[in-house]
Amino acid sequence: MAKVKITETVLRDSHQSLIATRMNTEQMLPILEEMDKVGYHSLEAWGGATFDSCLRFLNEDPWERLRKIRDKVKNTKLQMLFRGQNILGYRHYADDVVEYFVQKSIANGIDILRIFDALNDSRNLRTAINATKKEGGHVQAAISYTISPVHSSEAFAKFAKELEEMGADSICIKDMSGLLTPYTAYDLVKTIKSEIKIPVQLHTHYTTGLASMTILKAIEAGVDVVDTAISPMAMGTSQAPTEAIVATLQGTEYDTGLDLKALDKICKYFTPLREEFLQSGLLDPKVLKVDVNCLLYQVPGGMLSNLVSQLKQQGKSDKLAEVLEEVPRVREDAGYAPLVTPTSQIVGTQAVLNVIAGERYKLVSKEFKGMIRGDYGQTPAPIKPEFIKKIIGDEKPITCRPADNIAPELDTLREKVKPWAEQEEDVLSYALFEQVAEKFFEYRKAKKYELDADNADTKLGVHSV
Ligand code: CO
Repeated sequence: MAKVKITETVLRDSHQSLIATRMNTEQMLPILEEMDKVGYHSLEAWGGATFDSCLRFLNEDPWERLRKIRDKVKNTKLQMLFRGQNILGYRHYADDVVEYFVQKSIANGIDILRIFDALNDSRNLRTAINATKKEGGHVQAAISYTISPVHSSEAFAKFAKELEEMGADSICIKDMSGLLTPYTAYDLVKTIKSEIKIPVQLHTHYTTGLASMTILKAIEAGVDVVDTAISPMAMGTSQAPTEAIVATLQGTEYDTGLDLKALDKICKYFTPLREEFLQSGLLDPKVLKVDVNCLLYQVPGGMLSNLVSQLKQQGKSDKLAEVLEEVPRVREDAGYAPLVTPTSQIVGTQAVLNVIAGERYKLVSKEFKGMIRGDYGQTPAPIKPEFIKKIIGDEKPITCRPADNIAPELDTLREKVKPWAEQEEDVLSYALFEQVAEKFFEYRKAKKYELDADNADTKLGVHSV
């Protein structure tokens, strides 16, 4: 009996893809106990961009969010997305920071770490995988799925085998752009399953309108777990709707065993929230329509909504089509890197610069230069030497594991964070997002004073007006 399991993404990827990661903890908490009863394989609830968004936009401590979620989700496994040596940030960090971050994520309630590298350079996954195993967590090593002349089912299966040998407990096919078509998914899952013994999970996006079909074909090929989002927060750049997949499989050998009535309670909770997001403009209807162009331009959901808002802010919304055409050209120049954080931002921003400047690579971002130099690891295809020369000049490219060049950082960071530290985890927030974290720490301190003052006033019978 090949029962299929479901990972619900509404607490992480769904709102990251639809509303730029702005769902706050208060909007999540009231429904968590109901979600815990559904019988999901796991809840993807943390990591990815949620950490940054908490600190930068929501004035929330991401660690506190995790503890609050864990407090209400007693039975279901909690899952996070972890960007290998990038952790949840946008550069490579020293091994001691990666190890401590893994330790604290698991200590605060995470069960499964989905670990990926934007370039599929396994050297960038090693430290996070080893740390997760050491802390007793489940290592789900991810393959960043992409299409290019150098990628094939066989090449991905070979990579999956390598990840299994490195200690992965399961493999995720991470299709961040909705590029995986149904029959290719069938072939890919079959090929990977024939190479490895551990379970395979499929993560895809609805961006291109294919997700439900792709999931179905992957299930027929033997995939073990699939990612879906509850319907009010599904489709568009998010995941396929949970209820539809559950209903599709009911009464078949793949039956998820989930109850549609139980899911309806979750659906009813998120329906008014969706309305709120639409009303406030956070949910832009643009990201909800089927975007067939993504099949041509290979732009992931989150990247698309970022490009739309980047161009909107600069009053250049009319340039979107041009930027979308520039993206695959930049990608080819950069060795066919899969487009996922941080490479999606790097390639996306460079495409924007190329279009806005009116000349390709007249302006080059620091990050793009870094990627061409090898700061992020090895690209899937070698980059042309003349292009490397054009971008980095006489600088020497990096060929070793990038983190080998980074000295331990934790002790210095601990010193620096001292004026604000209220918990051990603060050093990690600071490590990833220095100034943003500082600003949040100041906010947190001011708020505490305010509360203390209020309490003192109340005790004295004084009420401020
Ligand atoms: Co995703």
